[in-house]
Amino acid sequence: MEQERYLFVETHGCQMNDSDSGKITSLLSSYNYRTTTDIGKADIVILNTCSVRDKAEHKVYSYLGTLKPYKERNPNLIIGVGGCVAQQEGERLLKRVPYLDIVFGTHNIHKLPELVSQVRRNKERVSETSFYENNLDIFPDPALNSSSNSLKGLVNVMLGCDNFCSYCIVPYVRGREISRQSSDIIKEIAGLVSRGVKELTLIGQNVNSYGRGLHEGIDFPTLLRKVNGIDGLKRIRFMTSHPKDISDPLISSFGELDKLCEHLHLPVQSGSDSVLKRMNRSYSRDGYLSRGQALKNLSPGMALTSDIIVGFPGETDTDFDDTMELVETVRYDAIFSYKYSPRGETKAAVMPDQVDEHLKNKRLLILQERQREISLERNMEYEGRVVEVLVEGGSDKNHERLSGKTRSFKTVKFDGDQGLIGELVQVRIEKGYVNSLVGKIV
Ligand code: SAH
Ligand code: SF4
Ligand code: F3S
Repeated sequence: MEQERYLFVETHGCQMNDSDSGKITSLLSSYNYRTTTDIGKADIVILNTCSVRDKAEHKVYSYLGTLKPYKERNPNLIIGVGGCVAQQEGERLLKRVPYLDIVFGTHNIHKLPELVSQVRRNKERVSETSFYENNLDIFPDPALNSSSNSLKGLVNVMLGCDNFCSYCIVPYVRGREISRQSSDIIKEIAGLVSRGVKELTLIGQNVNSYGRGLHEGIDFPTLLRKVNGIDGLKRIRFMTSHPKDISDPLISSFGELDKLCEHLHLPVQSGSDSVLKRMNRSYSRDGYLSRGQALKNLSPGMALTSDIIVGFPGETDTDFDDTMELVETVRYDAIFSYKYSPRGETKAAVMPDQVDEHLKNKRLLILQERQREISLERNMEYEGRVVEVLVEGGSDKNHERLSGKTRSFKTVKFDGDQGLIGELVQVRIEKGYVNSLVGKIV
């Protein structure tokens, strides 16, 4: 038998990359690579990258810089870069980083073992960034998702994005939308559940368009219904949803499917109609608000979260005020907010009236400060309520201290026995903070 080797994986970016890194780990484990958290012991280091904003891309180069001494100490060390920067840069990355061995794009994870053996055998440096459109083979074997010992699983339902929001690099680095066959999705989830997974998140750039292009004639609400029927699974979440594709059947799924958790991440990006139009988001402020309201009407416990970009090209004070007003109206539980970052081939990067960095900073601060207050108020509304929590583990060094999530995706901290990890418990909330709730088991 071949000697055991060690793999170290560093993951940046979104849940898609988390899930891909899981596949990379499983794939290489069948070739005798065991994961290690000690980079000095590794025979292969894989960096899974994100290019959604400038900052994320910079992180790639600074991380690769830290790998240089390892390569000098061990010339047999193989360094590979995957993910969105790999897809975007391809061969250019090999030129720019002379000690890099492998560049593999977002559709080429399945080729990684072959690329590794090519490097070992021929001592060559390789780059593979082809897209395989309309080819279901790019979805991995359902057995490769091995989030074992974990309570929470991520399952890919679709890849790519066809929306081309004018600021966004994702359609260029993840390719066209491709949905996965529902039988494979169900098989993968059933496998995870049999290994102890209680909570599942279905992931894709735009899960609401799930089913398009598949011959089975299925849509996302129908897929959710099938997943809801899997025995042993306790909770279902999904992300991300595009507001333009939030259909009535999807909204009613929240009331009808017992495992579907009362939380929706519904990125609005901006509260100004003129900005939304230039962003190519295909919905209006009012359209968004009415869908948000319909969701909130379903249940008082429904949580809404969002992504917001400030300083999009041409964003005026009035446009920004519209965003602030929308935030005031919706009262999100939490938001992720970003300064607009111009990205390579995107349309917005060459739009006139790019907003000054100082003004972006100022708007970001105003937005984040107000949202902190709203998040706190939303969380204080929980005080006195009893909520269901999936116990995930110790919340700090104190072993009696546990933490977990509510169905509405709030982090709850409370005292209890470690033996409760993995169980659903009822917790009475005593205090709400900006980012978490604190309570007692009832
Ligand atoms: N598919 C998801 C999000 C993908 S990227 C969706 O459509 O919601 C995650 C978030 O990054 C986006 O929602 C957006 O708010 C932010 N983002 C994307 N491109 C950006 C850019 N060029 N500058 C700043 N933020 C950006
Ligand atoms: Fe990017 Fe828009 Fe696609 Fe989301 S829907 S990944 S923001 S292009
Ligand atoms: Fe980043 Fe790629 Fe995800 S650009 S946000 S890792 S799809």
